[in-house]
Amino acid sequence: MILVTGGAGYIGSHTCAELARAGHDFVVLDNLSNSTMDAVGRLERVVGRPVSFYAGDIRDAALLDRIFAGHEITSVLHFAGLKSVSDSVARPLAYFDNNVVGSLRLLEAMQRAGCRTLVFSSSATVYGEASRMPVREDMACAATNPYGRTKLMVEEMLGDLHRADGSWRIARLRYFNPVGAHESGLLGESPRGTPNNLMPYVAQVASGLRPRVTVYGNDYPTPDGTGVRDYVHVMDLAQGHVAALAHLAKNPGDIVLNLGTGKGTSVLEMLDAFGQASGSPIPYEVAPRRPGDVAVSFADASRASEVLRWVAHRGIEQMCSDAWRWQLASAT
Ligand SMILES: NC(=O)c1ccc[n+]([C@@H]2O[C@H](COP(=O)([O-])OP(=O)(O)OC[C@H]3O[C@@H](n4cnc5c(N)ncnc54)[C@H](O)[C@@H]3O)[C@@H](O)[C@H]2O)c1
Repeated sequence: MILVTGGAGYIGSHTCAELARAGHDFVVLDNLSNSTMDAVGRLERVVGRPVSFYAGDIRDAALLDRIFAGHEITSVLHFAGLKSVSDSVARPLAYFDNNVVGSLRLLEAMQRAGCRTLVFSSSATVYGEASRMPVREDMACAATNPYGRTKLMVEEMLGDLHRADGSWRIARLRYFNPVGAHESGLLGESPRGTPNNLMPYVAQVASGLRPRVTVYGNDYPTPDGTGVRDYVHVMDLAQGHVAALAHLAKNPGDIVLNLGTGKGTSVLEMLDAFGQASGSPIPYEVAPRRPGDVAVSFADASRASEVLRWVAHRGIEQMCSDAWRWQLASAT
């Protein structure tokens, strides 16, 4: 049995769907701070059976003990966390409490229960302003905002834990830019309020909910002047987690892996692809660069391919068409 923290959220729910497809049993713990029971209901439709769900917080030690006592949990996929860079700048203590203290409480509960296999949702944000592209896992980390620092702190905690007790099996997965949705149209990203990320914003513009996309900076040293990122389909990410679990089942250790495609896509290329998927061009306006944004970021994804035999297969067209299907379905 696998415990999925944050399993009602965007990446967690897609990974639960993929766990079920791969024949794994799982139980979800989520405090619904950034998700709803509706997502759990839709996940149940995708997997075709009831999902074992606990509405609660990873900082609740007593609840964690009850979950570990009630299910034979052999591994944990730890997605639960707050994820907005700008919110973390405004509310750093909330981020350290939720992401760092929350992870600490979870690790303590795992230790009490004798469960020592963990896959942790880290982020390319830990690299900060990387000196070279593509970004490799052995490059120095220097997060530039509180959110990134919470990820880095948890990663350091995991490294120390594994050095103290080599029986832990840990995978720290550094996601690049997750986008797209489940092919059924039943699962996808449901941002609350104004989306922080490009793709959900573009999807809302395409469906007429917002007038236009603001492109921050068209004078970067990139082919079309706009920022370049490594977008990775959320179902490829989900499969990366299943591959990480399979790897950890055979190999103790503490591995750090980039999960990205290794390809960069510019903002204008993304708008173009989304326009094709939705059938009409995406209106946009250009604004000055945002402080803190880097020109280019994409992964060297070769370690994940060597260690996990995992490669992201889905291209930008599928990312856009799946996101568009989800936008249409979730608007009704
Ligand atoms: N989406 C991205 O762009 C991205 C990129 C890199 C890393 N990540 C990381 O991946 C993980 C999942 O991201 P996501 O995009 O699915 O976010 P999400 O907000 O959709 O999902 C996170 C889930 O965790 C739950 N949660 C938050 N704090 C909790 C707590 N204390 N106890 C229990 N549940 C809690 C939320 O209700 C939500 O359902 C996060 O840790 C995030 O930092 C996300």
